[in-house]
Amino acid sequence: MHHTTTMTPIRRAGAMLLSLALLLSLTLGLSGCGGGATATPSNPTDPVAVALAATNDRINLGQQIFTDANLSEPRGTACAACHQATMGFAGNHGGRNGVAVGSMPGSIGSRNAMTNSYLGLIPTPLSFVTTDGVTEAVGGLFWDGRGDSAELQALDPLLNPLEMNNPNRRSVVDKIAQSRYAAQFRQAFGANIFADTDAAFTSIGLAIAAFERARLQPFSSKYDAMVRGQATLSPTEARGMALFADPAKGNCAGCHLMNPTSGNPEDSPFSEFTYYATGIPRNPAIPKNADPAFYDLGLCGPNRTPPALPSGVAPGFTISHVCGQFRMPTLRNVAQRPAFMHNGFFNSLTEVVRFYSTRNSDPIRWYGQAVSNDLPAQYLGNIEVVKAPFNRAANAGPALTDAEIADIVAFLHTLSDAPVAP
Ligand code: HEC
Ligand code: HEC
Repeated sequence: MHHTTTMTPIRRAGAMLLSLALLLSLTLGLSGCGGGATATPSNPTDPVAVALAATNDRINLGQQIFTDANLSEPRGTACAACHQATMGFAGNHGGRNGVAVGSMPGSIGSRNAMTNSYLGLIPTPLSFVTTDGVTEAVGGLFWDGRGDSAELQALDPLLNPLEMNNPNRRSVVDKIAQSRYAAQFRQAFGANIFADTDAAFTSIGLAIAAFERARLQPFSSKYDAMVRGQATLSPTEARGMALFADPAKGNCAGCHLMNPTSGNPEDSPFSEFTYYATGIPRNPAIPKNADPAFYDLGLCGPNRTPPALPSGVAPGFTISHVCGQFRMPTLRNVAQRPAFMHNGFFNSLTEVVRFYSTRNSDPIRWYGQAVSNDLPAQYLGNIEVVKAPFNRAANAGPALTDAEIADIVAFLHTLSDAPVAP
């Protein structure tokens, strides 16, 4: 939380991996969509060509699995139902409560689908980093960091009763064995792969993650073109970017890291991938929230067991300090998403920015009371009050005017990638 311009070593490694994936995809000219064809090495005796073709096979396979609506119970819900290209690779399968609707009729989850674009920028697994006597959680997948890698994360929704709802690994493997891409799956992972349930199931994650890394991080937004010196922001977008970066105004870049002058879009992940309790209002539309004793505490559960702390954390730091914290997502493609924050409380970016501007000056507007309404009393002290704009005095008024809010929203729209072919 203290480094606004530097990248963690993990981040750098992630960026390097990403570059490799991009290089591979460029080398192979992967522009179109999955198709069904198996890549043939340009030179079948050259080991590099053979390895590249194998990567290409995995990516194509991953795309087909990602968009296969037969892989749910009952059938009809693909990964893509909650991670739609036209919705910033998020969306909630048509859910209107701000949270995901699963394959089982009437199954409504308690969390908003996150984008799975730019997954390769996220350091994994979750770790605790101590700098200058302050310990903070960083990385890991999902709002609560419980996913240890893209490969493993991809397996979770397949068996989650509130998402794709398959009863067990075998049932998923059987569906793939009967799919139109079964032969490609065998080609990529071995002729007998379907006989070994665990190996086949794990291979699904390898294919999906290869697809996500190669295809869902194109760096094709107007912002990226601007960073490369190939586009100019409009006056309102440029004002929005300045407010986004200004520590005395939005200070958004204090957490959602960017580096517009580096020449390299990869230096702008638009997230530190750290965790905060920012005091998002309770979403009354989530069925579980009908129980006043129910709280989603992010890193402290209930969707995970609280993580183990390593040795060497700051003196006095305990796991209870992270209760109520959620991982900051990237803001790339954010303007396309239908709902925002872990509980989907907001459905408009203007309202999101207004919340940042007035959380401290007008809590009644957000909570109906003076303090956050979505944390038990013992964790209210975990709410972020150090970083601007969350450090504002209550009587200092809004951090941003309506015109400034509109400028920031215009800037956020420059983070949307060029549309991809369906
Ligand atoms: C019914 C909706 C739904 C379906 C189907 C679904 N997801 Fe998700 N996805 C979500 C939700 C909700 C979250 C956040 C869950 C949480 O934090 O507990 C999420 C989170 C993720 C993340 C984490 C991103 C991050 O920044 O950490 C990835 C990656 C992802 N999903 C990929 C997939 C893949 C791959 C599939 C198919 C195998 C899939 N999803 C199917 C709703 C869905
Ligand atoms: C103190 C760090 C911090 C600052 C400063 C900050 N954010 Fe965030 N942002 C977060 C965290 C953490 C989340 C996820 C919170 C949650 O869901 O509980 C988030 C989530 C968001 C989301 C929702 C993304 C999604 O996919 O749902 C948007 C939009 C956003 N921030 C925009 C902004 C803007 C605009 C600013 C400046 C006005 C800003 N943020 C300042 C930490 C910060």
